[in-house]
Amino acid sequence: MADLKILGIPGSLRQGSFNRLALKAAQSLLPTGARLDLFELDGIPPYNQDLDKQPPARVGELKAQVRAADAILFATPEYNYSIPGVLKNAIDWASRPYGDSAWQGKPVAVMGASVGTLGSARAQYHLRQCFVFLNMYAVNQPEVLIANAAQRFNERGELTDDTSRELIRKLLAALVAWTRQPRASCG
Ligand code: FNR
Repeated sequence: MADLKILGIPGSLRQGSFNRLALKAAQSLLPTGARLDLFELDGIPPYNQDLDKQPPARVGELKAQVRAADAILFATPEYNYSIPGVLKNAIDWASRPYGDSAWQGKPVAVMGASVGTLGSARAQYHLRQCFVFLNMYAVNQPEVLIANAAQRFNERGELTDDTSRELIRKLLAALVAWTRQPRASCG
């Protein structure tokens, strides 16, 4: 039975999203004792600080699921060399009101797929920058950069590229080991 819960968040709303498919592939590459559930960003309205203290219901669901998870795994596309607005928007909502961030102290890992040749690298580094203020504990390696994504999934949406699958397997193992490691609570 799984005792360690990972919440996977795809940074794309697109029905055929390669990033969601990468997370689905990850569900079959987990180490023993871990499970991976997905949270979809549909239905989260644009962030409005006036609503910090009465957030929309969908934001409440996101915060509850983040809090219930032992670790977070983002799969981000790259939009104009950065993270998609829907992902940043969700991160902002769940970080508020000040002092009540759901991300506080969470172990986190990142992967990403893009149709370009850098596999979402620039978006991933922007996302990692957010982790500093959010005080999330990021796994550094391996970096999972799924470049030329359209060629790495088959018509059924399965990730067929062995190199990408092996990197995801290693990333999940690193995230689980990092999450199980005792750490002092600071901040
Ligand atoms: C893109 N795409 C893209 N790709 C990339 O490698 N670097 C980039 O900067 C961008 N910029 C960009 C902006 C916008 C607005 C869109 C819609 C797309 C292409 C992107 O990699 C491709 O659409 C992926 O398929 C998006 O990820 P999902 O939706 O498949 O998960």
